[in-house]
Amino acid sequence: MNAQLDFLQQRNSASRLVAPAPGAEELEQMLLAAMRAPDHARLRPWRFLSISGERRQALGELMREALLRREPDANAAALDKASCAPLRAPLIVVVITRFFEHPKVPPVEQRMSAACAAHGLLLAAEALGYAGIWRTGKSSFDPYVHRGLGLQSGEEIAGLIYLGTRDGPAKPLPALSPADFLQTW
Ligand SMILES: Cc1cc2nc3c(=O)[nH]c(=O)nc-3n(C[C@H](O)[C@H](O)[C@H](O)COP(=O)(O)O)c2cc1C
Repeated sequence: MNAQLDFLQQRNSASRLVAPAPGAEELEQMLLAAMRAPDHARLRPWRFLSISGERRQALGELMREALLRREPDANAAALDKASCAPLRAPLIVVVITRFFEHPKVPPVEQRMSAACAAHGLLLAAEALGYAGIWRTGKSSFDPYVHRGLGLQSGEEIAGLIYLGTRDGPAKPLPALSPADFLQTW
């Protein structure tokens, strides 16, 4: 098997992530890969926030407060879960979609480009020997969280890419058959 093809076919998210996470230089390499996402008219409809160390606690507080605003009756367990969510990995990269007015590139295409960038980040993390998982959840769509993270009006969160070193064995990959998804037209 071609090693590069094998690598692409084996990508596997990891929900349990521990230190070490990619360092600053490695993150730069990962972003270079992410920014090779297909991008109609080369608008670069993305930007990234890196969150690590104690800033993860600050993100957790933001998520907790957002939950309380969405659901004033949220119980203590749910609030704790929200504040601890960002502690599930040593590094989080928030992939933000930023939209540009363009006569040929509607917002959906820009969203898809940012999503491809997120996928590129995950692949690059694996190429460097790390692991990751793409997460969203209600907080990713919450305007209070958006404000706290400094999103500009109209920007969206494409995903939070949790990154680090896989803790424990990789989960088995599903056996998918291309024939189930491919028709000839
Ligand atoms: C846009 C998007 C949002 C996601 N949000 C979550 C999430 O909030 N929580 C979660 O456990 N998985 C989420 N996932 C799924 C995981 O990233 C992952 O794909 C899934 O666990 C399957 O693992 P695999 O990628 O190794 O097949 C999301 C995936 C995408 C594309």
